[in-house]
Amino acid sequence: MGFNIAIDGPAGAGKSTIAKKVAEKLNFIYIDTGAMYRAMGVYFSRNHTDLSDENAVKEACRTVDVHLTYDQGVQQIWMNGENVSQVIRTKEAGNMASACAAVPAVREKLVELQKKLAETSNVVMDGRDIGTVVLPNADVKVYLTASVDVRAERRCKEYQEKGLNAVLEDVKKEVAQRDYNDMHRAVSPLCQAPDAILVDTSDMNIEQAADAILKLVPSVH
Ligand code: DC
Repeated sequence: MGFNIAIDGPAGAGKSTIAKKVAEKLNFIYIDTGAMYRAMGVYFSRNHTDLSDENAVKEACRTVDVHLTYDQGVQQIWMNGENVSQVIRTKEAGNMASACAAVPAVREKLVELQKKLAETSNVVMDGRDIGTVVLPNADVKVYLTASVDVRAERRCKEYQEKGLNAVLEDVKKEVAQRDYNDMHRAVSPLCQAPDAILVDTSDMNIEQAADAILKLVPSVH
């Protein structure tokens, strides 16, 4: 059994950057579960799958291969033999991920894969349901958040750095909408596990947030 660190929280809280840093410091594997939902989202979008068509979604879940590899420690995500690590990083892929993440068959497929990955390795896994559903017995559980304003500013900056047009007010609405979708879906909604430690990164930089998590890992004190 590996040592498991579960990090959940809303979009833009800095989960992936901070989780990656924690994994690097501990020499653990970083698993970005959002990337898996994004890869499934790209598949459904390309195939024009109607997400309300239960049979079509189930059939896709049975046949689509989504898996991770690591290239010099950097996670690569594959969908049916194609490296989709870059393709999944668009706003549209994020919205498709959020939509398909509400479908039980999609969650079942990905949760099983995620549980297997954590069984034998030391991992830092981030997502929305890691401490509550995927790794309920994780050794360390963190709920990472920040105010909507701070998260929207961070997202906006990210888009602008990628050369995308982004207006702060629009991004704020998008972040709030995504929070609402993720927190109100019927299956595995985003919520803080009762035994998760709350880390609010509104006034923290990446190093400070990573240190706050590392302090929770017994051997790092
Ligand atoms: O973290 P992210 O923005 O890459 O995640 C994309 C979407 O996937 C997000 O809106 C919710 C969903 N997701 C989920 O439901 N469960 C997870 N463990 C990870 C992501």
